[in-house]
Parts: sequence; C-alpha cells; structure tokens
Amino acid sequence: MPDSPDKTIAFIGGGNMAASIIGGLLASGWPANAIRVADPSAERRAFLESEHGITCFTDNGECISDAGSVVLAVKPQVLRDVVAPLSGQLGEQQPLLISIVAGIRSADVLGWIGAELPYVRVMPNTPALVNRGVSGLWANEHTGEEQRARAEETMRAVGAVVWVDDEAGIDAVTGVSGSGPAYFFKVMELMIDAAESHGLAPGAARTLVVETALGAATLMGASELSPAELRRQVTSPGGTTEAGMRQMEAAGIDAAVRGGVDAAVRRSTQLSDEFGGR
Ligand SMILES: NC(=O)c1ccc[n+]([C@@H]2O[C@H](COP(=O)([O-])OP(=O)(O)OC[C@H]3O[C@@H](n4cnc5c(N)ncnc54)[C@H](OP(=O)(O)O)[C@@H]3O)[C@@H](O)[C@H]2O)c1
Repeated sequence: MPDSPDKTIAFIGGGNMAASIIGGLLASGWPANAIRVADPSAERRAFLESEHGITCFTDNGECISDAGSVVLAVKPQVLRDVVAPLSGQLGEQQPLLISIVAGIRSADVLGWIGAELPYVRVMPNTPALVNRGVSGLWANEHTGEEQRARAEETMRAVGAVVWVDDEAGIDAVTGVSGSGPAYFFKVMELMIDAAESHGLAPGAARTLVVETALGAATLMGASELSPAELRRQVTSPGGTTEAGMRQMEAAGIDAAVRGGVDAAVRRSTQLSDEFGGR
C-alpha cells in the first residue's frame, strides 16, 4: 500500500494486461488515486476511468510525472518509440521501471532511454486476466530491495511470482509459463475431442476436461509430491490409466512436450535479438 506520492504507479499502455494488474491492485487495497494510465485510445481511457476510477492520460510524460514506478505495458513493436521521447524525464526522475513487454531485453530499453535505471523485467501469462497468472521476474543491479518488493507486489496482484537470477531466465519463463497456457489448451482440446468421439455430449466433455485439469493442478499445488509420484498414485498395474499413459508415451509425448518447450525458449531468444536490433 503506498504511503507517499512516490509510490504512485503509472502504466504506459492500458490494454488487457495493464487492466488486469490494475484490477488486482485495487482488489488488494491499492488506492485508485495512486494509479495512472496513459493510452492513445479515448475509448480505452473512458473504459478504465469508469471501470476502475483511476486517472488516465493521453500524454505519456504527464502520466509518469512523479510516479515511483512506471509499468511499460505496450506491444513490443512500439516500445522504442514510447520510451525514447521520455529519456530526459526518466533519467531525471529515476523511477523503478517494470517492463511486462515480451521479448525485449533491458539493455535495449535502457539504451533507447540512455540512462541506468532500476529495472524489473517481467513475463506474465494470460491467466493473469482471471487473477490466476504466474509471472517470472528479473531485476537489474540498480534495483534495491524495496523496489524489488514493489515489483513483486505489483505482479502478485494477478497471481504467483517467481524470481530468476539472470535475464536469460526470462526466455525460459517465456517458453514454460508464458506460452504454457497454450500447451494445456492443446491437451484439453485433444481430450475434449476424444471424449466426444466416445459419445459424450460437448458440454459434458468440456466440463469433465476443465474440472480434471483444475483438479489435477490444485491437487499438485497442495501436495509436496512430485508429479511423477502423483501420477504413480493414480496408476494401478494393468489398469486404465496405465494403458492410457503407455500409449501416450509410445506416441512420443515426452519428446513432444520437451521439444515444444525448447522451441519456445529458442524463439524467445531469437525474438529478443530481432527486437534489440531495431
Ligand atoms: N496478454 C498477455 O497474456 C501477455 C503475456 C505476457 C506478456 N505480455 C506483454 O504485455 C504487453 C501488453 O499486452 P496486452 O495484451 O495488454 O496488449 P494490448 O491489449 O494491445 O495493450 C497495449 C496497449 O498499449 C496502447 N498503446 C499503443 N501505443 C501506445 C503509446 N504510444 N503510448 C501508450 N499506450 C500505447 C494500445 O493502444 P492501441 O490498441 O490503441 O494501440 C493498447 O491499449 C505486451 O508487450 C505483451 O508482450 C502480454
């Protein structure tokens, strides 16, 4: 909870992810008058003002004026054009920068700004939209303990957080939890198809699969056991689960999942190289 104007959080970009974090902050008791957003869309600003009671700006410089934290929440393609004109102001003001922008390294952003600033790079994921996200966070060497805590509190508003020690870890987070919801959607899609092929109605198939996924995740979250051990506990010799797992393993599920994560991590690194070169 902020106790001085310095704790004001200013968001540049008021899209889906910013709106989710703002909703989470307000729900956790953060005062609306300590949250500001800059967004070019009048419709978006009107929505954020009426939905959340926060103050919106068209001018990014005005929005971040005196803010203790500045959250960069625009699309990667526009980030350079957003931060470069704020260079003088950011250098003087020295706020904590929190970037949720996918695929852009801190050295590139700070190079475009032309100043060394406390900087936390964050990789959230889409379940943040329903307050069940998980974010990977990395802080540069200019970020103090209080600023790390502030970044963590900001992202905890929409889910769990995990810190990584070096910035390359954010590419790994991207390939695991950033892209991860899609992997689980794919598995659920295939299970729903299979359920329907065995005569279950679409609504029933969907409920069975969604609740099984939620239940398995909740069970694992509440347990100290490894996923392999939890799997063994529901697999009786000669039973149905064993037959199902054997077939999935024979069809290459291990290589498919490991290879999929590896490809996503590699792509995240490549995208950072491409964006940084612009
Ligand atoms: N959504 C996710 O699950 C997710 C996960 C991980 C990381 N991220 C990252 O989070 C960032 C935001 O994602 P999002 O899904 O919230 O995107 P989004 O809904 O497109 O939000 C971006 C917002 O920034 C606004 N904007 C564009 N140019 C601007 C400028 N010059 N100054 C201020 N605001 C400007 C956009 O307005 P217009 O639409 O009018 O251009 C839009 O409202 C992205 O960099 C993305 O990589 C998102």
